[in-house]
Amino acid sequence: MDRNLALELVRVTEAAALSCGRWVGKGDKISADDAATEAMRRTLDSMEISGTVVIGEGEMDEAPMLYIGEKLGRGNGQEVDIAVDPLEGTIICSKGLDGAIATIALAPRGGFLHAPDMYMEKIAVGPAARGVIDINASPTDNLQRVADAKKCYIEDLTVVILDRPRHDKAVTEIRKAGARIHLITDGDVAPAIAAAVEGSGVDMLLGIGGAPEGVLAAAALKCMGGDMQGRLVFMNNEERDRAKGMGIDDFDKVYQCDEMANGDVVFAATGVTNGDLLRGIRYYSGGAETHSIVMRSKTRTIRFVETRHSFDFKPKY
Ligand code: FBP
Repeated sequence: MDRNLALELVRVTEAAALSCGRWVGKGDKISADDAATEAMRRTLDSMEISGTVVIGEGEMDEAPMLYIGEKLGRGNGQEVDIAVDPLEGTIICSKGLDGAIATIALAPRGGFLHAPDMYMEKIAVGPAARGVIDINASPTDNLQRVADAKKCYIEDLTVVILDRPRHDKAVTEIRKAGARIHLITDGDVAPAIAAAVEGSGVDMLLGIGGAPEGVLAAAALKCMGGDMQGRLVFMNNEERDRAKGMGIDDFDKVYQCDEMANGDVVFAATGVTNGDLLRGIRYYSGGAETHSIVMRSKTRTIRFVETRHSFDFKPKY
């Protein structure tokens, strides 16, 4: 993977974030998502890549842009698979709440798990707890393993978990075990990444969220030396058939981080609203500032990028 592609990716997520940034708090998640998707597609299509979307906005018949299978880029560059979530946390953005990001990852052809649009059970941690997590073990066991690996008490750990009734049992158990919990309304990619950032205040992401979001989180954690496991959660036979159609036949398989994102992966994300990982867009007279993260698995270089955009010279936002 050309290392300059990583830096180019920041432009892609910045464009998506700046485009949906104007929709923050406006109560219109569809327009916010459309704006991010259109900007991401336009910027990606100008890159010197031969890209194929494998994690995107949906199947061709349900998404006009960034659909699975869409070819992007000028066609004369490296062959890459593309995983995108132009606006991760559409409801968060529409309500002006914390935690919305624009995000993308690239891998060599075949590098990403072709995760269907369904649920995935996930556990994600940073490099200090790499190799100790087990999705088949109880939350208490996992907390003890992570506390041991991080040489701290369970009481020192903060677990991020989506605030959903399906997590009530796990929340009760985690509280009993003594860990701190940060319940989030939406957006589980950013906290999975935050678990791998020293000083972010997040130690673990746990629970069931979207499978495509799981692949993006795995791409980021691979770049950071973190760890993640995921298992698809099927709600009905139609989802099983869809997964089969995408080449998945072991419905109970536990996917390791490398099985979700493999090879020389590059990842970028830009904050739309404030979060544990990234600051949201800040507007000022004549421009705006964005805060992004960009990384490469090959070198594990992690860059935080602050960009000042001048609307006098870049008027489209
Ligand atoms: P959208 O950006 O598509 O709105 O998804 C947000 C999200 O919260 C993800 O971060 C998470 O993985 C998933 O939705 C959880 O799904 P659900 O809202 O059905 O529990």
